Amino acid sequence: MSKIEVKNLCAEYEDKNGDFQALKDVSFSVGDGEFLSVVGASGCGKTTLLGVLQGIITPSSGSAFIDGLPITGPGTDRAAVFQHYSLFPWMTARDNVAFGIKQAKKGLSKRERHELAHVFLKKVGLSGFGHKYPFQLSGGMQQRAAIARALAMDTDILLMDEPFGAIDAKNRSNMQELLLSLWEGDGDTKKKTVLFVTHDIDEAIYLSDRVIMLGGSPGRVAAEFPVRFPRPRIHSTIRKTGEYGSLRNKLMALFYEENNGLAEEEYTI
Ligand SMILES: Nc1ncnc2c1ncn2[C@@H]1O[C@H](COP(=O)(O)OP(=O)(O)OP(=O)(O)O)[C@@H](O)[C@H]1O
Ligand SMILES: [Mg+2]
Repeated sequence: MSKIEVKNLCAEYEDKNGDFQALKDVSFSVGDGEFLSVVGASGCGKTTLLGVLQGIITPSSGSAFIDGLPITGPGTDRAAVFQHYSLFPWMTARDNVAFGIKQAKKGLSKRERHELAHVFLKKVGLSGFGHKYPFQLSGGMQQRAAIARALAMDTDILLMDEPFGAIDAKNRSNMQELLLSLWEGDGDTKKKTVLFVTHDIDEAIYLSDRVIMLGGSPGRVAAEFPVRFPRPRIHSTIRKTGEYGSLRNKLMALFYEENNGLAEEEYTI
C-alpha cells in the first residue's frame, strides 16, 4: 500500500472574483520510504498540495490518504517545513524545536526534550544559538531552526516546501546530506517518506527517487520521472553522466513548455 495517495484532487480558494481553482484532478502516490520531489512554476499549486497533505486545506473534491486513511486534519505522523519561516516568535530556537518534539513524541521529560532540541540544533549548525529568539536569527538560521524542529519530531512523513530556499550554498549542501541521512534512518531515527517541493531541478534530481512536475493553472501533474542513480550519490559525479544531462534536459524542456515558451531568463528554477 502507498504511504500517501492523492486521488483526483481539486482545490479552490475563494477570492473576490469568485472561486479560484488552484489544483485540478491531481493524482499520484508516494511509496512507503520514498523520497519524492515536486517541481513546477510559481503559482502552480505546490504549497496548496502540501497544505492538503498537512490537513490544513480541505480539497474541493477528490481526496488524499495516508496509510489508506483519508486525511481529515493535521496529524503527529507528519512534520512540515513551510516555505516561509514558521517559528513561534515568542519562543527561543530551542523551545521551538522542543515544542515540535513535545507534539510528536510523548513520554519525554522536559529536560529530555531540551537535550534532543540541542542535538538537532547542532545538526543544522545552530549550536550556541538555542537561546536566541527568531528575530535575533538571520532568515537562513530561522529556516534551519524550523528544519531542526521538523527533523527532531522524527515522524513517518516529512512535508517540505522549498526548505533550503533561504540557505546559502554551503549550508544547503550540509542540509541536503543531513536530510538524506535522516530520511534513511540512522538507528536513532526511523526511515521516512519525504515529499519535497523545490524550484531547483538539480536538487530534485540529487535527492529524489522520483520527480513529479506540476504544471499549468490550475495545477495538474504534467509528468513524472524516476531517478535511478544508486545511493549514496555524489552530486559532482552523477552530474557528469549522460543520464543526468538527459533527465535534466527533459525536466527543463517540460518546465518551459508548461510555461508557454517563456524565455529561459524569465524564470529561474
Ligand atoms: N489564500 C489564497 N487565496 C486565494 N488564492 C490563493 C491563496 N493561496 C494561493 N492562492 C493561489 O493559488 C495558486 C497556487 O498557489 P500556491 O501557493 O499553491 O503556488 P506554489 O506552486 O506553491 O507557488 P510558489 O512556487 O510561488 O511558492 C496561485 O495562483 C495563488 O495565487
Ligand atoms: Mg509555494
